[in-house]
Amino acid sequence: MSYQEFYDKSMSSPEEFWKEQAEAIPWFEKPKTILSKDEEGLYRWYEGGKLNTAYLALDYHVENGRGQQVALYYDSPVTGAKQAFTYQQLLEEVSLFAGALRARGVEKGDRVIIYMPMIPQTVIAMLACARLGAIHSVVFGGFAPHELAIRIDDAQPKYLLAASCGIEITKVIDYMTIVDAALEEAEHKPEGCIVYQRPQLEAALKEGRDYDWQDLVSRAEPAGYVPVEATDPLYILYTSGTTGRPKGVMRDNGGHAVAMKFSMEYVYGVKPGDVYWAASDVGWVVGHSYIVYAPLIHGCSTILYEGKPVKTPDAGAFWRVIEDYKVKVFFTAPTAFRAIKKEDSKGELKKKYDTSSLDYLFLAGERCDVATLEWCGQLLGVPVIDHWWQTESGWPMLANMVGVELLPIKPGSAAKPVCGYNLQVVSPDGESLPAKQEGAVVIRLPLPPGCLPNLWNDTPRFLSSYMSSYPGFYFTGDGGYIDDDGYVFITGRIDDIINVAGHRLSTAKMEEVVAAHPAVAECAVIGIEDQMKGQIPVGFVVLKGGVEKTEEELEGELIQMVRAKVGPVASFKKVAIVQRLPKTRSGKILRRIMRHIADGKPFSPPSTIEDMTVLPELEGLMKEKHIGHGAD
Ligand code: COA
Ligand code: AMP
Repeated sequence: MSYQEFYDKSMSSPEEFWKEQAEAIPWFEKPKTILSKDEEGLYRWYEGGKLNTAYLALDYHVENGRGQQVALYYDSPVTGAKQAFTYQQLLEEVSLFAGALRARGVEKGDRVIIYMPMIPQTVIAMLACARLGAIHSVVFGGFAPHELAIRIDDAQPKYLLAASCGIEITKVIDYMTIVDAALEEAEHKPEGCIVYQRPQLEAALKEGRDYDWQDLVSRAEPAGYVPVEATDPLYILYTSGTTGRPKGVMRDNGGHAVAMKFSMEYVYGVKPGDVYWAASDVGWVVGHSYIVYAPLIHGCSTILYEGKPVKTPDAGAFWRVIEDYKVKVFFTAPTAFRAIKKEDSKGELKKKYDTSSLDYLFLAGERCDVATLEWCGQLLGVPVIDHWWQTESGWPMLANMVGVELLPIKPGSAAKPVCGYNLQVVSPDGESLPAKQEGAVVIRLPLPPGCLPNLWNDTPRFLSSYMSSYPGFYFTGDGGYIDDDGYVFITGRIDDIINVAGHRLSTAKMEEVVAAHPAVAECAVIGIEDQMKGQIPVGFVVLKGGVEKTEEELEGELIQMVRAKVGPVASFKKVAIVQRLPKTRSGKILRRIMRHIADGKPFSPPSTIEDMTVLPELEGLMKEKHIGHGAD
């Protein structure tokens, strides 16, 4: 079947289409309905179906002859460790840890926060929660204590799982100091913390609060899987929104399992038994979907890589992993390749390795510039597939569905809508726009299975963030256009979210922190283009009268504050002191115009601008401070 036929089928009879796809999943009880609405009027897939996601990812494969196949390769250049877990071994580890959690009273529906690095225990913890029907929420290690505290208060976990440390190239990050500060700040107090001790830095456990992971496991009985409803939550993953408060994206069990399996087969073109590698972090959605759940549900071997594209030990690290494990499909963010290109522009290190096992390279997480796409293609000699999605969707919304048909690649475009996504580009008043006209990218409801059915405990925010701007549609937050051949070009976020080295961050959050400095009268944080990280945040600050500190002192303090409140991952490293900010007469800061000035893009100031002379003033200051396109 061609892509077009397959896609059209998903559009003309979605229920029939997704009923058929659901047949690929071993349900304990088949769904009673395929698509329905819940008591809040929100769409739900597969109501009445019963399953267990850990069963699908592990037990099912062991029962069906995959017990001796490697499920998970752990490769850690930062510690020198390498380990392989067969499906049988991973099942045993997960069952035991689930038993340990159960012995501590964790049950179906309880929340468990996982603040852990890229080690096998993190995957084991996620699957152990899924086995019990408990809802995990993994928090990325690069976030500061305050961000962890916000998530603890929102998810109200029964337990927090942590490792004693993470390793960033050569830096050892003391996780328990971060956990201590977060628990101090959070109002909700979990019943306890279960801590996995790593030899690189052992934590001093707090009596009465902390439990030693290995000790609990040594005394645990293996736990069986708990059947859950298709509509029961599997996990909550917090992501940056347009305010300082992150959004708890909720994922259910049934729709997620179907979407994961479907995407492996038809988007990525892999078969059970193949080696699939997503070089991301389990703290992001890419890690949830394509390091853990999708490859395991599909019976593949997945790779957990605790390293970077460069410096662990060099820019040949990715090629080494591809050769070592005979990776068939590889997925990462364009920024990783920009980092490699910077260190090894001619790809000399690639010559040392045999990457002939590779069929495709997939890129996502941020806009993929054409130069990077072409460089990757020439270096690896395989099709490079730019595909577009987000935490909320949980799986690709735009892609070249290579498992169905490899369409011609148009650099700069993430190709065409994936089955189930009725994607349109609309004007501010919701009118569908003709080809090549840029507008807001929206998806006609219902969203396909696997996408967020709601936010955790916050239906009003779910509706206001995604559903109310364009009634009948889900608003993705991205802008873009469709060309005459139906290829979609994503041009970037049209809200205050930025993507720094593939990490999604909120500038509003950073503004909140900067504005709290006693010397700051007002400020704007904008994301500007960066050759390596795609985008980086820059703060523009107007000072209160009578401030006696030097510009360098203030800049240092503000950078430190963002690092301490948001986390190092924000990469907030530049601040400019300005006399005033461009505003409308009603006082709205013109951040978009500031961004365009920094990126050297044409813009037309709105007629409502307060004072036009601020614009050349700002442009001059950016040049002087080496901010933006004129920097070098
Ligand atoms: N725990 C603790 N700190 C972390 C962290 C983690 N899990 N991840 C990142 N950080 C810290 C880094 O150590 C760094 O701290 P520093 O300011 O003290 O140096 C800071 O956060 C910024 O990290 P990062 O954005 O990763 O930048 P970098 O300059 O260290 O590395 C790349 C740049 C391109 C090599 C790196 O971003 C990368 O490998 N990107 C791959 C893309 C990716 O995985 N995207 C995920 C979505 S697909
Ligand atoms: P996250 O939720 O962290 O996965 O970030 C999602 C956002 O990253 C999207 O809304 C886009 O703005 C951006 N993004 C992801 N993939 C792409 C892509 N292939 N092209 C352009 N932008 C992308």
